[in-house]
Amino acid sequence: MIENKEILVTGGTGFIGSHTIVELVELGYTPIVLDNYSNSSSSIIRQISLITGKKCIFYQGDMRDKVFLKSIFTKHQLSGVIHFAAFKAVAESVEKPLHYYDNNLVALINLLGCMEEFRVNKIVFSSSCTVYGVENSLEPLTEQMSVGKPNSPYGWTKWMGEQMLADIAGKSDLRPIFLRYFNPIGAHPSGKLGELPLGPPNNVLPYITQTVAGLRKELTIFGKDYDTPDGTCVRDYIHVTDVAKAHVRALSHSFNSNFDVFNLGTGKGTSVLELVRLFEKITGKPVNYQFGPRRPGDVDALFADVSKAKKFLNWNAERTIEDAILDAWKWEQYRLENEIS
Ligand code: NAD
Ligand code: UFG
Repeated sequence: MIENKEILVTGGTGFIGSHTIVELVELGYTPIVLDNYSNSSSSIIRQISLITGKKCIFYQGDMRDKVFLKSIFTKHQLSGVIHFAAFKAVAESVEKPLHYYDNNLVALINLLGCMEEFRVNKIVFSSSCTVYGVENSLEPLTEQMSVGKPNSPYGWTKWMGEQMLADIAGKSDLRPIFLRYFNPIGAHPSGKLGELPLGPPNNVLPYITQTVAGLRKELTIFGKDYDTPDGTCVRDYIHVTDVAKAHVRALSHSFNSNFDVFNLGTGKGTSVLELVRLFEKITGKPVNYQFGPRRPGDVDALFADVSKAKKFLNWNAERTIEDAILDAWKWEQYRLENEIS
């Protein structure tokens, strides 16, 4: 474990960041949280405190604002950074590429400038399985595979982020870890924290929970002619709490090279239709859905080989897809009852 326990968590009020903060606090770290609320809201800070019993140190601002970012590094003795802040909607990035390159890359460049100036060398970077550039994985994707051509501007921002970090690591003491997430879903098992999309959700499980809760008319399943057993896309869905725990493990990783990379998934693929059926079975609630055209940027099937994270981070997914569905549904009901938005 590292000595100084102040860890900057960028994008900390977002879906994965907020769950990671809970895990950090539980293990005695002091998260310094930064977000501009472009895709989250202040209610999340309250929910984190409700679970941890501790007040969070929080700064509202945009990472593209260098002065704002530097002021945080000046105030705190940071020993590491977990960098979540980014725009993440694949289809939106196809529509608005500049918006994505500007936000995701400028934020990272500013962050790396501050880290260099203040000699902070540890960074955990939120990457994505999209960097493999694979359209249809018949075999699980391994970290040994070379990265490919991502099929969206969003994916390229993750690809470029990794490249930038690797180049700098080769020339300095920076030691980055790339965590390539597959599909994080679910909510905190207490049901008091979860995904809080602003506007209609882009991701499938929150769309399902909002549809069943009566907030959306119906789920559209994007495409039924993919090269998969039931024609709908296959993804490797992983509980967000498991994803969060991996970040804390990554902070105390011992490096044998300038940088390291790990897949975070379960190793099992589930189709969109299977996810809908599982939701109905677990909650006893019918999901109103229809089929629609394919969504730009989507690929057939992706799932992870997770043996490297098991071996070197001593981490593996402990919760099931059923746990994730149940927790997400618990959260949807809790947030409606408590008018959290
Ligand atoms: P999220 O949108 O819930 O959280 C991201 C947070 O970053 C938001 O709270 C947003 O307000 C903030 N943010 C964005 N740009 C900012 C900026 N310039 N300055 C300050 N704050 C900013 O997303 P998430 O699901 O928690 O994802 C976290 C990270 O993981 C992202 O980098 C995303 O690309 C990556 N990722 C997510 C998934 C997924 O399925 N959720 C999969 C692979 C990778
Ligand atoms: N889907 C629907 N209807 C919806 C929403 C999604 O059918 O309303 C489908 C999508 O077409 C896809 C599957 O559900 O087949 C999963 O979609 P998500 O949007 O939940 O997740 P993605 O796999 O598209 O995206 C995730 C992350 C990205 C990452 C990408 C890599 O959110 O950050 O995985 O494939 F880049």
